[in-house]
Amino acid sequence: MTKWQKSNWREFPRVQMPEYTDAGALNAVETQLSKYPPLVFAGEARRLKEALGAASRGEAFLLQGGDCAESFEQFSANNIRDTFKVMLQMAMVLTYGAKVPVIKLGRMAGQFAKPRSAPTEVIDGVELPSFRGDIINDLPFTPEARIPNPAKMLQAYTQAAATLNLLRAFSTGGYADVHQVHSWTLGFTTGEKAEKYRALANRITDTLDFMKAAGVNQDTAHTLSTVDFYTSHEALLLEYEEALTVQDSLTGNWLAGSGHMIWIGDRTRQPDGAHVEYARGVLNPVGLKCGPSMTPEDLKLLMARLNPENEAGKLTLIARFGAGKVGDHLPRLIQTVREEGANVLWVCDAMHGNTIKSNTGYKTRQFHAVMGEVREFFAIHLAEGTVPGGVHFEMTGQDVTECTGGVRAVSEEDLSARYHTACDPRLNASQSLELAFLVAEELSALRENRQARAAG
Ligand code: PEP
Ligand code: CO
Repeated sequence: MTKWQKSNWREFPRVQMPEYTDAGALNAVETQLSKYPPLVFAGEARRLKEALGAASRGEAFLLQGGDCAESFEQFSANNIRDTFKVMLQMAMVLTYGAKVPVIKLGRMAGQFAKPRSAPTEVIDGVELPSFRGDIINDLPFTPEARIPNPAKMLQAYTQAAATLNLLRAFSTGGYADVHQVHSWTLGFTTGEKAEKYRALANRITDTLDFMKAAGVNQDTAHTLSTVDFYTSHEALLLEYEEALTVQDSLTGNWLAGSGHMIWIGDRTRQPDGAHVEYARGVLNPVGLKCGPSMTPEDLKLLMARLNPENEAGKLTLIARFGAGKVGDHLPRLIQTVREEGANVLWVCDAMHGNTIKSNTGYKTRQFHAVMGEVREFFAIHLAEGTVPGGVHFEMTGQDVTECTGGVRAVSEEDLSARYHTACDPRLNASQSLELAFLVAEELSALRENRQARAAG
């Protein structure tokens, strides 16, 4: 294999990328962007890689979440704060269930470019190019809006930088106050399930009170009020990625400066394609979406290409098969990983295999399908003796109505009320927190099961 360079992907077949019509304008943007500072630093990416390595051994657990597509229009401090807050709450609940540290990884500060199932969209007999995310073109259904505009990369960079700046401030500025657990469940309605969540929240509060009473020292108090929060996105728009790729002065290795982790989507993971070629050369941890069409042969090639040194934490396999289908696909991929002796972290994306159209005409996902896929993922890993190392959700801190179900049930008729997503339907704050409670139950059951096996 030839020596990697950040621009070599240009020689490989590419899919899902825009055809920019004005080469001069594209070039000018790339030149400009490549002068801008990277958004993240090599040491941070290495630290995340180490943490993900721990998760692959069951010594940590990954929570990856955020918008399907970040939007220019909905960009605001409140939106960022609310997603951050819900992820922290979820992480607290998961930590209680798993009894290991939870790694918080946002689909944030760069999650702008979207692969689409069709290159064009037809409305009332009019056919236009599909919307590909705010970093590429515009959502309104007009010919002008859908022309890819390279200047949007600069706005995406600016928004990502501002988002990361706020996230860094929240992470160290004491916003990470986690001592309010029971108040989080006040939004849950009455009923058996809501009671169960409240009981768990009370147990967490008790534990925190106990720690305080027992004399938590300054160091521990500091640990509880600061958090590590990392960013990730799909590395789809390779002109943007290349422009932000920098050499690490310490090691001479190359860093994708656009986010701590990047991932390759289920539609762009051709082993000989441009996206895999780009991702194989960077030092960041890399995610790989694995949908139903992933073959053992491709997985073997991809693991060898994306993690040639077989480093722990380098490669995260993000399984996204759909509820009811995990058993058809996951076992053979686990078998492939085993045969290769490969180091991987297994994570469950319980969203992308569960998208349906509601009777009221909205693209939606059902809460029970999302949780169903997580349960199947856990059950298979328990049976195989492998580690279910994390979960991946499309979610927001806002009270949107995009997915149906949950204790504060959203019905198909409710979807029209607050359907704000720029792409796929997201779990709202209440649904996200409820999922965390249910995943925490899975994690503690898994832990008890392992202890019982070890004991006898
Ligand atoms: C996504 O994560 O938003 C996405 C498009 O996923 P996938 O590549 O798994 O379909
Ligand atoms: Co999506």
